[in-house]
Amino acid sequence: MRNVTLEQIFIHPITQKYLKRSGIAHAIAVAEYAYMFAKRYDVNPDYAAKAALLHDIGHYTWYRNGEWDYELYKENDIHAIKGASRAHKLLIRIGEDRQTAKEIAVAILLHTDSYLPEGELKLKPLQEVVAMADEADEESGGNHHYKSIDAESALERIRALDSRIDSDVHVYNGQSGSLR
Ligand SMILES: [Fe+2]
Ligand SMILES: [Fe+2]
Repeated sequence: MRNVTLEQIFIHPITQKYLKRSGIAHAIAVAEYAYMFAKRYDVNPDYAAKAALLHDIGHYTWYRNGEWDYELYKENDIHAIKGASRAHKLLIRIGEDRQTAKEIAVAILLHTDSYLPEGELKLKPLQEVVAMADEADEESGGNHHYKSIDAESALERIRALDSRIDSDVHVYNGQSGSLR
């Protein structure tokens, strides 16, 4: 039995507010990829889908004169750091287990290597799965942040993912990010 569902996370006003900046369609697609990769690489699918859903929750709106400014973003971005902290706070608030919340937050922190020293970090399987899922939905010029989805199909896809995770999760109960 999970403490918190994807639906609970998704409908929370904090999630809605921040995910609108980076794109709800992207967040859902990445959660679906993360679920798929989690199954393939024997990683807890509940953790993977939650981290993926929230991975870009730390985005700031990088606009200059009403337009997205990619240079400004690249120079100053700390969305993974901010996202890890925001996601952790939110998860604890809605009743997530502390260890689970920590694993998810660290996976969010490491989903992008844009600010990390190259090649010095060995990612854990959960962290790799979330980073791979993000890459799988990436489009050139950051277009993945602008895809749109209507509220009804968004919620349907979240619920579908929840029920797939519910049917797997007994296998992973009490395990941390990986079964290896
Ligand atoms: Fe990101
Ligand atoms: Fe992303």
